[in-house]
Amino acid sequence: MANLCVVGLGYVGMVTASCFAHLRHNVIGVDKDERKIELLAKGIPPFFEPGLEELIKEGQNNGRFSLTSDINEAICQSDIIFICVGTPPDKNGQSDLSQVEEVSRSIARNLNSHKLIVEKSTVPAGTAERIKQTIKITSPNIGASYSVVCNPEFLREGKAITDFLSPDRIVLGIESSKARQIMQELYRDFKCPVLVTDITTAELIKHASNAFLAMKISFINLVADICEKVYADINSVADGMGFDRRIGREFLGAGTGYGGSCFPKDIKSFAAMAGVLGVDATLLKEVDRINEKRIFSIINKLEDALWVCKNKVIAVLGLAFKDDTDDIRESPGIKLIRKLAEMGSRVNCFDPKATNNAKIELHDLGYPLTFAENPYDAVREADALVFMTNWPEFTRLDFQEIRQLMRTPVIIDGRNMLRAEELTKLGFWYYDIGRCRGKGKTSVMQQSFFDMTVWED
Ligand code: UDX
Repeated sequence: MANLCVVGLGYVGMVTASCFAHLRHNVIGVDKDERKIELLAKGIPPFFEPGLEELIKEGQNNGRFSLTSDINEAICQSDIIFICVGTPPDKNGQSDLSQVEEVSRSIARNLNSHKLIVEKSTVPAGTAERIKQTIKITSPNIGASYSVVCNPEFLREGKAITDFLSPDRIVLGIESSKARQIMQELYRDFKCPVLVTDITTAELIKHASNAFLAMKISFINLVADICEKVYADINSVADGMGFDRRIGREFLGAGTGYGGSCFPKDIKSFAAMAGVLGVDATLLKEVDRINEKRIFSIINKLEDALWVCKNKVIAVLGLAFKDDTDDIRESPGIKLIRKLAEMGSRVNCFDPKATNNAKIELHDLGYPLTFAENPYDAVREADALVFMTNWPEFTRLDFQEIRQLMRTPVIIDGRNMLRAEELTKLGFWYYDIGRCRGKGKTSVMQQSFFDMTVWED
């Protein structure tokens, strides 16, 4: 079993560290945030991720997962070092790689044996070369032996443990036979395809994959806008496209646009990188632009129903950027609330997991915003209710009760997850995305004779 250290216990680092410990490797988790280390030492994860707490406790109980804020000690005791620090965008959208550089310098100072340095963070192509150069320039140990590998992560929040343990593929950007041998041994028991490439290609695979998925989402959102104009149904369009194996149905879910810590940042960074290289990245910038204005699709619907949003009470259900996470980074729900506050609306909001994070993020808004304890309190006396996150529990709400509690019965379903027919029967003015506008038309469009039928023979 290998001795690993994972530097940076954010999302990717925590999942990587706890999963490798689960696979019986000895793992040291390193983070300079001492408070985080203290909490983790008590078994408390820094964020919500299904299954993570159990893995942390398992690793701590069997002694395979230890924690420290001392990076020097951790590197000295490890053969493989995973770099999982943040690569946030700077003001031009380019990745700020200062944390990766800092870790490279720490590694350079502690080359007491052969080290395999694994890039896990999402980085622009060419970063591994920079890591190597930094180590070469700053290491006091001339001639120290080390290799750099790029092993990008493809973890989805909410499903990260499963994605780690049963990935679609493993990508390894490798430049030495020793590195190849160590990495193949590390992933020996994984059953998926393993693609071995040069390092720069592996770096590019990560950026290109995320940019492509983001492009699918912006594309379907653009088609959803067209659907609304011609009274077509986006779900059926996506189904019809998705049956084509060259296209696939996944990531053709129209809605409020993508959020989270990856897509918005990665598409900007990829476009910025292309720009620096003199490659025309208009396509990528357009993907980002379409996404940035998704929020207006919701605002337009609110104005269509309420006419004026100023002084209206809007209930917003869903603050996390998607279900099964408490992450609010680049969350459409948060963006909507800011916009509504700007327009003079009062907002009551609720999220099953992300309320605490949202309170911190939106503390500057003050009075026009209140955080409810449950969805029913959020909708009391509301003029409209907007669903911004696809939490499954939202589909199981008692809409009859909600109808009674609201001042005017307007629902905007930003995730196309509710049953239009049922809601219109209850008297709601129901708007969804790309399935034609409210005012009764929706109910006609969505009667069963319009539902997609697939003939088996
Ligand atoms: C993503 C990538 O999937 C993962 O491989 C990468 O390593 C990290 O970034 P994540 O950000 O956790 O993962 O979420 P994901 O499930 O991919 O969804 C991203 C965003 O797209 C969410 O806001 C989601 O709501 C939105 N989305 C997704 C859509 O709007 N429509 C879809 O059809 C799918």
